[in-house]
Amino acid sequence: MEKPPSYSELFNKVRELEKENWRINSAALHNINHAEAKFQSILDTVDVHMSLINRDLNIVWANWKARRDFGEGIIGSPCRNACFDGCNASCPEGKKCLVRDAFRLDSEQRGEAEIVGSNGKKLYFSGTAKVVAHDRDGRPESVINVYHDITEQKLAEEQLRDSLIQLRKNLSGTIQAMAMTVETRDPYTAGHQRRTSDIARSIAQEMGLSTEQVDGIRMAGVIHDLGKISIPAEILSKPGMLGKMEYSLIKNHPETGYNILKGIDFHWPVAEIVRQHHERLDGSGYPDGLRGDEIMLEARIIGVADVIEAMSSHRPYRPSLGAAKAFEEILEHRGILYDPDVVDASVRLFKRNELNVH
Ligand SMILES: [Fe+2]
Repeated sequence: MEKPPSYSELFNKVRELEKENWRINSAALHNINHAEAKFQSILDTVDVHMSLINRDLNIVWANWKARRDFGEGIIGSPCRNACFDGCNASCPEGKKCLVRDAFRLDSEQRGEAEIVGSNGKKLYFSGTAKVVAHDRDGRPESVINVYHDITEQKLAEEQLRDSLIQLRKNLSGTIQAMAMTVETRDPYTAGHQRRTSDIARSIAQEMGLSTEQVDGIRMAGVIHDLGKISIPAEILSKPGMLGKMEYSLIKNHPETGYNILKGIDFHWPVAEIVRQHHERLDGSGYPDGLRGDEIMLEARIIGVADVIEAMSSHRPYRPSLGAAKAFEEILEHRGILYDPDVVDASVRLFKRNELNVH
């Protein structure tokens, strides 16, 4: 039978086990510290603000960028101290808070925030809050909050939007100047282009065209007779009927307008619409004798609006024929010269008294 170990043998054995345990624990601790330092240095190199927030909405950890911008004191302080969303001291429930929502809904939350920095400049941030740990009962325990500075991107977008608005304003001014140039030479038709444009826009809206198409029609309408600039003023304002030569000069105006406008990038096919506004469905129009769908819808609309406006207004060679006569004309030639859908939309508008023609 084996002899039981002595007290001193047992004591030595326990000491050895303790030493071994200590060695294992220190190695594990060393590995954990090493891994944590490595992890921390990786997170410190990223160019975003990162903070870990507990259920009491206090920051328990922050990366270098967050500590640099908010001070080392943010660790242990309430998360509102590092909030870009303008969170005030009372953190009102009604206000959108990514961190609180992440805890409440246990899901990833994303959002953007705009703040005014200490130098008075606007700063923009894009943020994400995500639950990274749960307690034993499965309740969210901590949330990682990541904020990314998108100020440069936002400012570039704002600048682009401003330039676009400015560009459109300039374009509108140029169009207006072009319209006035032709109308000052032809006082009898002054306002004709603007009124035609208004009628054409109403028809296009009545037909349910897109805002984009309506804008193009409005723009082309305002300068549809630009080509008349090349017609001698005495012909434009001549009372009485025109001779054959004079009429052929007048008929050049859609093409002349097209040639003036074709080099300008309008964003809409303005030059083409201007060229086609005297084309008619049966091919009897000018300058190209296009038929049916060969004629752009925009030009078919301006063509009808042009007739309605011209017949309802005074001309050097005749008094106003009146809107009723204009509608007689377009209804008589509905589907022959004029697009039936465009005529129908005009009639509906006229019956509702929405065309401002008499
Ligand atoms: Fe015209």
